[in-house]
Amino acid sequence: MSENLTALSFRKGVEQNLFEQMQKASSDPVALRKMSEDCLMGEAVTLGAVSFYDFLKKENREKKVFLCNGSACLCAGTQGPLKSRLEKQFSESEIGEICCLGRCYENGAFQYQGSNYSALEEESIESLFTSGKKAHSKDYHVDSNMEIPLLVAEFPGIDKFYSPFKELVQRDRQSVCEDLKNSGLRGRGGAGFPMGIKVEACLQAQGSPKYVVCNADEGDPGAYIDKFLMEQRPHSVLFGMITAGWLVGAEVGVLYIRAEYPDSILSIEAAIHELQDQGYLGDNILDSGFSFRLKVIKGAGSYICGEETALLASIEGQRPEVRVRPPFPVEYGLFGRPTLVNNVETFANVQPIFSMGVKNYSEIGTEQSKGTKLISLDGHFYRPGLYEVAMGTPLRIVLDELGGGFRVPVKAVQVGGPLGGLIPIDKIDEVTVSFESFKQAGFLLGHAGVVSIPEEFPMIEYIEHLFQFTAVESCGKCFPCRLGSVRGQELMHKARAGDYKIDRELIDDLLETMEQTSLCALGGGVPLPIQNALNYFQDELSVYFKTKETQS
Ligand SMILES: Cc1cc2nc3c(=O)[nH]c(=O)nc-3n(C[C@H](O)[C@H](O)[C@H](O)COP(=O)(O)O)c2cc1C
Ligand code: SF4
Repeated sequence: MSENLTALSFRKGVEQNLFEQMQKASSDPVALRKMSEDCLMGEAVTLGAVSFYDFLKKENREKKVFLCNGSACLCAGTQGPLKSRLEKQFSESEIGEICCLGRCYENGAFQYQGSNYSALEEESIESLFTSGKKAHSKDYHVDSNMEIPLLVAEFPGIDKFYSPFKELVQRDRQSVCEDLKNSGLRGRGGAGFPMGIKVEACLQAQGSPKYVVCNADEGDPGAYIDKFLMEQRPHSVLFGMITAGWLVGAEVGVLYIRAEYPDSILSIEAAIHELQDQGYLGDNILDSGFSFRLKVIKGAGSYICGEETALLASIEGQRPEVRVRPPFPVEYGLFGRPTLVNNVETFANVQPIFSMGVKNYSEIGTEQSKGTKLISLDGHFYRPGLYEVAMGTPLRIVLDELGGGFRVPVKAVQVGGPLGGLIPIDKIDEVTVSFESFKQAGFLLGHAGVVSIPEEFPMIEYIEHLFQFTAVESCGKCFPCRLGSVRGQELMHKARAGDYKIDRELIDDLLETMEQTSLCALGGGVPLPIQNALNYFQDELSVYFKTKETQS
């Protein structure tokens, strides 16, 4: 069935994209029915897709304001008081929830009429709703300890920035692929797969047309790395996509940007227009014979759309359920065609590789993790912000020297989103910023957003939050994740709420089942931070668990 839908969606293509049409029609049942008839899709398919997304589902239609319920705002404790303030302006049914607006540097985040706000004083909140006056959000710090930063460097203007591209298109594609492989660049979206290998596989894949897709669905609470790049260095991302398009032989690139980042959409669209005006996009770019177009597709509120196969299903207008791999997107991707999917930050590394030279780039970092990494710090730091460091830099330097240390006593940091490891504060010195160091220490670098868990924040509540996050965001395709996350949350909730004691064997079984049998890294990944919490915070958590005496 989904293959038929993929083929039907291909007929509409990227320009008359079904997902966009679906978004427009979502609030009008008649229009939605007409759309499904016109596209020969059947109403169940379109309703099934529409009802999946936070911004489209029926129960959210009357919501006027959405509160961020991400991990950073939760740990900052800002959302309870914020909700009380919003309740003065809105009824309970008009207030919805949304996951992570990327305002983790100051918290107290919410979305109103498509714009995001955070850390507003009571007066500013009132004037926003009564007079429409928008209060300005504080900016976050942007810094690096590199002598010459790669990703946070000032933009030197289009001609200078794109000059390496002019040289690349004179070269043989395979040799540029070799350069990319030799650079050692690994994907920054979480899994760390080498970009050059993926590009080469897509170049060699049979089938046309081919596509390049930028995964800009950065849903990890605590991360605003891709948001920074799109809003403040949009050409870094676009350079990478155009180069990748030329390399794999694609004529169309899609940026799938989450709806929670309205400013990112605007800045990327403005940068695309600039490039069109200056001949870097369109037909026969710079007389190279290469034609390329870029299209922005706005998400509609769903964490799982960051998983690459769910993201592709979403663009096709299907319910964004994870697909079994293989086949991988480089062979069977968007509309069933060869597709290169990379993260925003991965694409942003392409320009530095070719402007500074492969050798110079690959000398930055460690043996297995080359280049630099952007790290975002939440509002618990003295200098919350976005920092670029060479791979291999001790995590301590990022947290203490760049971030200025914690403003409040903190017992652990979760790095890499809800599926990333939970590092107790006394283990910070054991990790450096690299894929291998995090893995060796039993954690995960992931996308590297940092959420601080204050000493006073109950660990049991944090575990419940992780299970709940997974339960809400699960695509539902496989039961270990769909059911396991709900059961896990129930156990934690019961233990917090009353005198129910959790059976450790039961929770270990549950986590093992989820880890080993889930189809993707949502259900398969969330056991890691929970196991970290159970191992490192045994003393604090013991009160919620059965003892040997109560076990029998
Ligand atoms: C539950 C889940 C959520 C994900 N979310 C994102 C995301 O928001 N952004 C992203 O780039 N990759 C995300 N990924 C990883 C993508 O599936 C994919 O590996 C990535 O886009 C590939 O790009 P890269 O090689 O440049 O990292 C997610 C994976 C899973 C399992
Ligand atoms: S692990 Fe969860 S999100 Fe992933 S495929 Fe299974 S149900 Fe879907």
